[in-house]
Amino acid sequence: MTSANDLISIRNLQVSLMSARGLVHAVRGIDLDVQRGEIHGVVGESGCGKTVTAKSIMRLYDENIMLSGGHIFFEGYDMFSLSEREIQALRGSEVSMIFQDPMTALNPLYTIGYQLEETLTNKGVKKMEAAARAVKLLEDVGVNPPESRKSQYPFEMSGGMLQRVMIAMAISCNPKLLIADEPTTSLDVTVQAQILDLLTRLRDGRYMSILMITHNFGIVAEICDRVSVMYAGGIVESGDVREIFRDPRHPYTSDLIKSIPRSGTRGTLLATIPGTPPDLLREINGCAYAPRCRYASGVCAEAPPPPRSISESHSYACVRGT
Ligand SMILES: Nc1ncnc2c1ncn2[C@@H]1O[C@H](COP(=O)(O)OP(=O)(O)OP(=O)(O)O)[C@@H](O)[C@H]1O
Ligand code: SF4
Ligand SMILES: [Mg+2]
Repeated sequence: MTSANDLISIRNLQVSLMSARGLVHAVRGIDLDVQRGEIHGVVGESGCGKTVTAKSIMRLYDENIMLSGGHIFFEGYDMFSLSEREIQALRGSEVSMIFQDPMTALNPLYTIGYQLEETLTNKGVKKMEAAARAVKLLEDVGVNPPESRKSQYPFEMSGGMLQRVMIAMAISCNPKLLIADEPTTSLDVTVQAQILDLLTRLRDGRYMSILMITHNFGIVAEICDRVSVMYAGGIVESGDVREIFRDPRHPYTSDLIKSIPRSGTRGTLLATIPGTPPDLLREINGCAYAPRCRYASGVCAEAPPPPRSISESHSYACVRGT
C-alpha cells in the first residue's frame, strides 16, 4: 500500500549487475517509502546495495545493470513505464542526486558559475535570469561571497565548498527529492557537520524530501526522520529513527548503532562488527545476517525472516520475538 504522503514508493525492487565474477544480486526485493518533506536515511555497510537502489530511482543504469523486478512509483507514477525522454525531464527538475566526490560531477575546465548557469539554462531558464539565480543559489548554500566565487574553478575550492556547489546545482530546479549518496564521507568532521546542517535547513526551507545514504548511523540519528537499514541487498529494519535508535530490534541495527564512531573520525566505522557481509553472487537461503549474528539458531537458516511490524512506524525482519 502506498499513501498520498509518499513521494517515492519502492515495491519489491530487484536489481542485478553483471560483473567479471558473474551476476551480482545487488538489491533483493526491497520496499521503501520516502514521504514528502522527510529526511529518510538508508544505512548499511559497503556493498549492501545503497547506491544501486539510489541509481534505480534516477534510472541511472549502467550497461551491466539489469532490473529484474519490482516498481518505483514517483507521486503515484510508475517510473519504469516512463520513456527515456520523460525520465530525463524528471532528472534534475523533480529528483536530483549528489555524490560523495563532487569532482566527479563537475568539469575542471569551467568555472563553477558557468556550470551552475548551464544547469539552469539546460532546464529552460533564460541566460540573464540564470546569472542572477546562480548568485542567489550560491548564497543559499553558503558559498560566499557568491559574485567572486562564481568565477572560481573547481580546483580552487575546498572539498566542503565543492560539495556546497554540488548541492546548489542539485537544488537549482527545486527538485522534490534530493538523493544524497554519502555526501560527507570525504569531508572532515567540522565540514561534515556544516553540510548536514545545510541539508536540514534546505529541507526545512523548501519542504524537499531527502534520501540520505550513509554508512554511519550517527548521521541518521542526527538528521533523519525515518530510516531503512540495508543488509545484503535487503531491508532488515525500517521506521521512525528515534524509535529505532531507542529500541533497535534487528541485531544488525544494534550492531550498527554500537559502531557509531565516537571520535567522529573517518575510516574507522564498523570495525566492531565481526565478519563480513555475504557474497551477493550467491543465493541467500535463510537470514542473510546469520553467519554474523550472536542470536542465530537453526530456524534462521530455514527461510528469510518475513518483516513484522511492532508499531505503525517500526518494522523489522528477524525471527526473534518482540
Ligand atoms: N558497476 C558494477 N559492476 C559490478 N558490480 C557492482 C557494480 N556496482 C555495484 N556492484 C556490486 O553491487 C553490490 C551493491 O553495490 P552498491 O554500490 O549499491 O553498494 P553500496 O551499499 O552503495 O556500497 P558503498 O557503501 O561502498 O558505496 C555490491 O556487491 C557491488 O560489488
Ligand atoms: S533471523 Fe536469526 S540470524 Fe537473522 S538476525 Fe534474527 S536472530 Fe539473527
Ligand atoms: Mg554506495
